[in-house]
Amino acid sequence: MPSAGELLQRGAAQLKEAGVERPWSEALLLLAWALGRSQAALLAHPELVLKPEEVRRFSLGLAQRRARKPLAYITESKSFLHWDFFVRKGVLIPRPETELLAELAAAQVKRYFPADDLLLADIGTGCGAIGLSLLLLLPGARLLAVDSSPRALETAKINARRLGVESRAFFVGGDLLAPLGPWRGNLACITANLPYIPEGEYGGLQPEVREYEPKEALVSGPDGLDHYRSLLAEAGKTLVSGGLLLVEIGDRQGERVLKLFRRGGFPAPEIKKDLAGLDRIVWARKP
Ligand SMILES: C[S@@+](CC[C@H](N)C(=O)[O-])C[C@H]1O[C@@H](n2cnc3c(N)ncnc32)[C@H](O)[C@@H]1O
Repeated sequence: MPSAGELLQRGAAQLKEAGVERPWSEALLLLAWALGRSQAALLAHPELVLKPEEVRRFSLGLAQRRARKPLAYITESKSFLHWDFFVRKGVLIPRPETELLAELAAAQVKRYFPADDLLLADIGTGCGAIGLSLLLLLPGARLLAVDSSPRALETAKINARRLGVESRAFFVGGDLLAPLGPWRGNLACITANLPYIPEGEYGGLQPEVREYEPKEALVSGPDGLDHYRSLLAEAGKTLVSGGLLLVEIGDRQGERVLKLFRRGGFPAPEIKKDLAGLDRIVWARKP
């Protein structure tokens, strides 16, 4: 039977040949998943000899990745901030740039709402990455997590249980802020990473995104802003005075989303850039 080190080399070479961008680190992740061990343990013990069923599991994962199935859907796991989130086909895989939104939201909530007893909402919660991370970062808060996709909500519920925050998380199916009527005027913070890709740009996305990730989680009308237009028309009424609204945007949408915020009753919105220096978040406080 081959050793972990040999399989890692072989796997990385196959992924490289298939055009996978980070072949070595993805091969390591797949091997760690196939063995149920940490990446660090494999790096420390490349001489480890694998059992036949472990080799089979690794080969299966490798074949799927070579066919361009996203890694997170193979391992059913995606790391986000300090935690691993369960993900599966039909539910968007959280992106690294979205971590910035969760971190900024947590920092601003701590700054403006030092009291513990807070109500937050995450609109278009997907697997719950933003909203559930906020519960972990803000131990006194409660969360209303909204999504129009039942599969996303089920996935987020599973994550809430696994992360031990289910007693503070409430899941509501529906369109944007519509299900939050009973809590109108009571929310301290709303986060939203809603679809923002213009319809005409969908065809240009990577094939693995188009084939495996739900289009309804990505595309929002001709300019990508249909969801944010609707959200901004109502968000002000849903927040408490001084409440926070933070949304993730496409890198060329900053100026247009600033206008939507101003029109929605947020006079001083700000743009936060991501690590690549691109516009990524627009956020503001309700006066
Ligand atoms: C870009 S994904 C983001 C998922 C998650 N927040 C994240 O950052 O990984 C957008 C999410 O919005 C949901 N969604 C799309 N249209 C919606 C609507 N009208 N109302 C509520 N959720 C919606 C999708 O089902 C999807 O889960």
